Amino acid sequence: MTDHSTSVSRQEALVRILGAARVVPVITIDGVEDAVPLARSLVSGGIRVLEITLRTSAALEAAKAIIAEVPDAIVGLGTVLNGADLERAASIDAKFALSPGATPELLQAASRSHIPFVPGIATASELMAALAHGFEIVKFFPAQQAGGIPALRALAGPFPNARFCPTGGISAANAAEWLSERNVVAVGGSWLCPVPDIKAGNWDSITAQARQAMDILAP
Ligand code: 3PG
Repeated sequence: MTDHSTSVSRQEALVRILGAARVVPVITIDGVEDAVPLARSLVSGGIRVLEITLRTSAALEAAKAIIAEVPDAIVGLGTVLNGADLERAASIDAKFALSPGATPELLQAASRSHIPFVPGIATASELMAALAHGFEIVKFFPAQQAGGIPALRALAGPFPNARFCPTGGISAANAAEWLSERNVVAVGGSWLCPVPDIKAGNWDSITAQARQAMDILAP
């Protein structure tokens, strides 16, 4: 396990990155060629922090291409499921990593890794495991389906130090409400870059939607 100061500096990095972003698009890329234009269209709309999910065979190459060619983007890897995924994130110099869950193996690997990591939790026990490993910033997933804001408030009650990045079912319609919770650092979701828009190359529309979201959610 890493020492306390390393753990604190990783958490501080997350607060800086996610707290400044407030809104993090959860991106699924099927074609590597879409990665750079998509990232540019989000950055043009004011969204710089991007989560590229490891859900497709193109994901890692896509993230690498964005890191190389879109210097204003701050790239994290999502859907990190195990220690090998974490190493992938570190190997491409991703700035952070997120998981939908918090298995003991993943928490241990993340404790040893230097990469700022956000484990996923939906229960008190998962949150306790994350906190015990020094992870105070967690992804609440799947946020809407697991009970929405009332569930977040109930979970947060016994754990005043925990801070949350809810994802799952967040949209333009409810993002502001989530962000007004005092312990919500940022919200994430796929609504800002729908797969059909990516496939059709609707970059201007993605930029317009990003700008609108930032005007409302992160003024
Ligand atoms: C995630 O991995 O965070 C979710 O798949 C995002 O959920 P959404 O598609 O409902 O926004």
